[in-house]
Amino acid sequence: MVDRRTILRCQISSSSPVFTRGPTMSTASPSSAPQAPASSHGLEAYHLHLMEAAKLAAQLTQHQKNALETIANQMARPGRGLLAADESVPTLGKRLVAAGLVNDEETRRAYREVLFSHPDLGEYLSGAILFSETLGQKAVKDAEGRLFPALLQSKGVLPGVKVDLGLEPLEYSARETHTKGMNDLMERCQEFYAQGARFAKWRAVIRIDEAANLPTRACMQINSAELARYAATCQACGLVPIVEPEILIEGAHSAETFARVTEAALSEVYYTLAQAKVFLEGTLLKPQMIMPGVDSPSEGRPRPEEAARRTLEALRRRVPPAVPGVVFLSGGQTEEQATQNLNLINQLAKRPASPFRPSSTTCPWILSFSFGRSLQASVLATWDGKDKNYEKAMEVAGALAKANAQAQLGEYQGPHPSVLKGQSLHETNRGWGANAGEGGGKGESTAGATATVPPSGETAA
Ligand code: 13P
Repeated sequence: MVDRRTILRCQISSSSPVFTRGPTMSTASPSSAPQAPASSHGLEAYHLHLMEAAKLAAQLTQHQKNALETIANQMARPGRGLLAADESVPTLGKRLVAAGLVNDEETRRAYREVLFSHPDLGEYLSGAILFSETLGQKAVKDAEGRLFPALLQSKGVLPGVKVDLGLEPLEYSARETHTKGMNDLMERCQEFYAQGARFAKWRAVIRIDEAANLPTRACMQINSAELARYAATCQACGLVPIVEPEILIEGAHSAETFARVTEAALSEVYYTLAQAKVFLEGTLLKPQMIMPGVDSPSEGRPRPEEAARRTLEALRRRVPPAVPGVVFLSGGQTEEQATQNLNLINQLAKRPASPFRPSSTTCPWILSFSFGRSLQASVLATWDGKDKNYEKAMEVAGALAKANAQAQLGEYQGPHPSVLKGQSLHETNRGWGANAGEGGGKGESTAGATATVPPSGETAA
């Protein structure tokens, strides 16, 4: 059990110039750093999340741990990855509308049916993350008219579910966010398990803005505490939690800064999960690949090999070997870039970590994908909402999954099945602003979600 004094004693002040001026949860912080005020995401909430997480983690039986570890290892299998098809109603709606389609329940259902129906999907995917609405929808083209979780299970693809309810700005750092959805998380997880889900996802978001000294330490701390409580809650309900501290690619920062922030965020996350004694063998990590910010100058951008090297280096430094799998998000890369980078990461992972230790060849985790946009964008473009395109779009979905499954093995050779000719898939402010209502659960109202102030110069998604 973690007590409050232990937590406070263990707080450390950051020495990184990226976060020296931001608020921090720590009472032992540098005197110049303002303290985060009490709020649903302030100091009290931080301690509450940690203590609740520790309580739940301590109650996990060996039998429950075995079941979780079995699922996690089923998800993190060689030559397989995850399809992230868990976009909330507003996020998917934005993409449907941009494609000239309506954002109604039937269109969302029909689109998801295209994504989930390829007969060989289970040869490339170990799991698919669904939105809560999708768990209760049927595959109407399936001869048995099964619900999506049953259809996926029949192909050997484990169904998972997004359990967070989107982002909300921090009172003490308004351009940063924490994640909503803690209120009735236990009940929702129990319900999702009963509906067939076997794993879950919770997306925390960290923003880099060097001029504004972001991210703040406090932002990383509250998001880590939420991730720890989410993870322990899921595990108590039999769901393997995917821990996702996404560092946004928005901004002009260098790859070096991105790497530094990634390492800091992963340290905070795994420090916090360790404080709560979350069962790491029954979790997966979902990070981004490390590359320069999307607005960084194009000249001098590092080669893909450099991104793969930095990504692997940060993971090797910060992710405990007990975690069975690291599944990357695609984060706005083009479909082809995401596949090529995953391929490079896996090729590099087979080589020695350091020329000074030639025998250190293996990575302790499966390095795979949990792509959203880069497994879907060509499918949506091909389907175009028309039933006559269903078969063709389903083939594209299968081909994208196959290319990335090959990349998981480091054996992708192309040509890439993308139909988008290198089109950027970058979106700004996903999950907040006009998208803040990520709901679908009962616990938090999605109507009239908190208005946020998007960073200057950016449009709310
Ligand atoms: P992208 O692959 O589109 O970045 O999305 C994955 C995801 O689930 C982010 O939370």
